[in-house]
Amino acid sequence: MTATAVPRRPLGDSGLWVSQIALGCSGFWGHRRFAEAEAERIVRHALERGVNLFDTGHNYSGFNAEPRLGRILQRAFAAHPRDGLVISSKAGTLTGQAGVSGAEQRDFSPDNIERSCAASLRNLQCDHLDIFQLHGIGVPQITDELLTALDRMRRNGMFRLLGINTHTAETMRFMADRPGAFQVALIDYNALQQDREPLIQAMHAAGIGVLAGTVLAQGHLLPARPRLPRLADAWYLARAWLKPSSRALMRSARAMQRAVATVHSQTPAQTAFAYVLQNPAIASGVLGTTRVANLEQILQTHVAALQPDERARLVAAFAPTGAAHAP
Ligand SMILES: NC(=O)c1ccc[n+]([C@@H]2O[C@H](COP(=O)([O-])OP(=O)(O)OC[C@H]3O[C@@H](n4cnc5c(N)ncnc54)[C@H](OP(=O)(O)O)[C@@H]3O)[C@@H](O)[C@H]2O)c1
Repeated sequence: MTATAVPRRPLGDSGLWVSQIALGCSGFWGHRRFAEAEAERIVRHALERGVNLFDTGHNYSGFNAEPRLGRILQRAFAAHPRDGLVISSKAGTLTGQAGVSGAEQRDFSPDNIERSCAASLRNLQCDHLDIFQLHGIGVPQITDELLTALDRMRRNGMFRLLGINTHTAETMRFMADRPGAFQVALIDYNALQQDREPLIQAMHAAGIGVLAGTVLAQGHLLPARPRLPRLADAWYLARAWLKPSSRALMRSARAMQRAVATVHSQTPAQTAFAYVLQNPAIASGVLGTTRVANLEQILQTHVAALQPDERARLVAAFAPTGAAHAP
């Protein structure tokens, strides 16, 4: 690692340290129509800059993201050994496109969860996952039968840390109230979701490593920039318009987007990451991107550059929407 390597933070009480910026391997990055060579350039750049946390999901990008990440990491292991990386995947969602589809179908039966974890290990060409997450599980689905099966899977070495990827306050509260049951939470947290902060603090106090996904609110916190449209941009636009939760996010983002644009200490995207990473209870912000330059910009985020008066403008612009975004 060079002197400019992205800083690391403890992942809750797990004993693992993760880069404060993680790479989300999902969305158009994992899409078959996005060239694998480009996807690989992004992962390689992240690895070279000290990113050690890679988050994907079994169903991501029409089931293409996970095997793609597996192939890319296999080729990278010689220079970036497996034991230095924190590989995270998810199970429970049966539908193949977490980005654009509206309704998701889910199955958290122990058999399906174990089958999915085994398939993730094959796809990622790993003997274990560092983080295994239940993707969008609701509290009623967290049964003793499931927890017993997960415990056995962990003892059999299939994964190290158990997590939940959730966008609902009820599930976050459930996790915070059961210290030791879950080690990781991946939640939606950005300047538009400041009402998450007491729950984030409660999960952190329970020893849970809290990861923030959608730090850029899927790009909606950023001003539109004129540029030649790419296939990736059309895909993002389709997600924004077709997925109800993304439409709600887009609507609620406008005032915050203006507030972010008044901050001149860094770029709007860096300001969005600095806001989230100034929260000491966040272990890492997970970025989704199809551009090396955008990744590099985020890696250069200077967390302390967001000044108290600038931060206060983002706090003032916050208006809770009450919208619960399903992951
Ligand atoms: N979205 C969800 O509901 C969800 C659910 C569970 C987990 N997660 C995790 O969180 C990760 C991130 O979520 P996400 O990809 O949905 O949203 P995100 O990271 O908030 O935003 C991604 C969008 O921001 C753009 N972007 C990235 N860096 C930029 C920069 N420096 N300047 C301007 N634009 C930039 C990307 O476009 P370019 O490609 O052009 O850079 C893309 O349109 C996922 O990969 C996944 O691991 C997300």
